[in-house]
Amino acid sequence: MPPEAVRAGFFPQLVRWQAQHGRHGLPWQGTRDPYRVWLSEIMLQQTQVSTVLAYYPRFLARFPDVASLAAAPLDDVLALWSGLGYYSRARHLHRCAQQVVAEWGGAFPPRSADLQTLSGIGRSTAAAIASFCFGEPVSILDGNVKRVLTRLLAFDGDLAVAAQEKALWALAQALVPDQPEPAEMARYTQGLMDLGATVCTRSQPQCLLCPAQTLCAARAQGRPTAFPVKTRKLLRRTEAWWLLVWRRPDGAVWLQQRPQTGIWSGLFAFPVLAGRDELLAAAQTAPERVVEHPVLRHSLTHRELLLYPVEVPWRGVGEPPLAGVLPTRWVKGPEALDLGLPAPLRTWLLARWAA
Ligand code: ADE
Repeated sequence: MPPEAVRAGFFPQLVRWQAQHGRHGLPWQGTRDPYRVWLSEIMLQQTQVSTVLAYYPRFLARFPDVASLAAAPLDDVLALWSGLGYYSRARHLHRCAQQVVAEWGGAFPPRSADLQTLSGIGRSTAAAIASFCFGEPVSILDGNVKRVLTRLLAFDGDLAVAAQEKALWALAQALVPDQPEPAEMARYTQGLMDLGATVCTRSQPQCLLCPAQTLCAARAQGRPTAFPVKTRKLLRRTEAWWLLVWRRPDGAVWLQQRPQTGIWSGLFAFPVLAGRDELLAAAQTAPERVVEHPVLRHSLTHRELLLYPVEVPWRGVGEPPLAGVLPTRWVKGPEALDLGLPAPLRTWLLARWAA
């Protein structure tokens, strides 16, 4: 259990602070429609607010409700997601919409326990939707909130250990009153997010601006940034991917849809070869006929990709020799942006076409 002063004071102080100093007017804040809240929470999971602001209205314009999303082809969803990254989110999003239609008659269930049974909705996202839309008194606990609460409580358990994470969940829940006003519960959830994003930041937290400064155990110890404790480091394996960029005299480049599993699954990309020699062999061309572009670095959750685009002129007719069973396209200029493209390739192509 958190200390009594924290249990009594944190919730009301955070709610009051959010009203005065939290973030307001974001497009997903003016609604209690679970579809809109759910969409924003999924988009915001690994993506900054500033990026989501551009994607969210476009997505809603094309898919205004859960039924239209459920009925859409996955390729259309991936195309609208293109550039947000972490495409498994888009796949789960689509499946979740279909589950809501098939299993819940087209309306999101209101309880976090039921929301968690849906594709792509974890415990914290379920709590965010249930507290924002229905005022359910359940705590969120995403990465930012782990930082806020481990500091508030000087919780020094190693969050790489499942039992410690579970203990923190219980503490987070113990900070929520039994029967808060629904509007206050929603404000508390937003306050936790806002505090983590704007005041209780990873480095140089602004403790003097914090509504919990007198309650915070880490601050009392004079070491706010000693928390959270997490030992296991993420291991990222580095891989070199050689990208074969066939280019026609009219400037069009050749893209092939990736298989439905693995990195960039279902997106359109250049053919990937394991090395320079393999690429030249696949292109059936001499090294002096190709243009080697600077390497692009791209970090995924478990991989560090080094992308080596190599441009090869295509003067034949029809399809290059690598065409297999997967769909392919010649694309030129902005039309490629209507396809689902991995973010680094989209950026690279845009820069080339702008030049
Ligand atoms: N990050 C995740 N959810 C958010 C929200 N509702 N507002 C701002 N940032 C967020």
